Amino acid sequence: MLTVAVLISGTGSNLRALLDAAAEPDYPARIVVVGADREAEGFRHAEDFGIPTFLVPWRDFDTRDEWGAELATQLDVWRPDLVVLSGLMRLLPPAVVEARAPQIINTHPAYLPEFPGAHAVRDALAAGVVQTGASVIVVDDGVDTGPVVAQERVPVLPGDDEHTLHDRIKPVERRLLIDVVRRIATGELDLAAAAASASTPS
Ligand code: GAR
Repeated sequence: MLTVAVLISGTGSNLRALLDAAAEPDYPARIVVVGADREAEGFRHAEDFGIPTFLVPWRDFDTRDEWGAELATQLDVWRPDLVVLSGLMRLLPPAVVEARAPQIINTHPAYLPEFPGAHAVRDALAAGVVQTGASVIVVDDGVDTGPVVAQERVPVLPGDDEHTLHDRIKPVERRLLIDVVRRIATGELDLAAAAASASTPS
């Protein structure tokens, strides 16, 4: 059974979907802890399932490295096989990424490498594209630059605003995330191989 830590910052609707999936008897992964950088609304989903939570408040630390060191300490307590960034709106410091890579994945509401960063849905609308998407990537030291392990297109419809478009993307993200975690757990998807092939020049 693959053990998973999920890190969030917000409502945690994608976390909820993963918790629901992991509650199914035939799902090969279980969530052992949920962490956040702020008092995230999404903690309530973990509480619904009796899953422990930890908070490492971003505002309590002077530097990203110090915050990351405490986050790493908290993660180490639970010894998860995989860390899922599910709406964590902070960049992990390189030391945290290096210690756990490639066993950290991130969901992103765009078809990477299009629209990386914290405002992917807004940026897609501002660019006037007719389609955007959802991606799951292996986390590296960059901003949404890691190897893509799953992605799917999502249409932008006339009259969309950030809210309606994000609401259309999130169900796709959830489906991709649940499937990626399942494939990692069964060995169908090897993150080390995905990371290695991405860094090998063709
Ligand atoms: C998700 O769409 C996730 O991809 C995005 O935040 C949302 C969290 O929603 N993350 C990023 O934009 C990271 N760059 P949720 O809290 O309802 O699951």
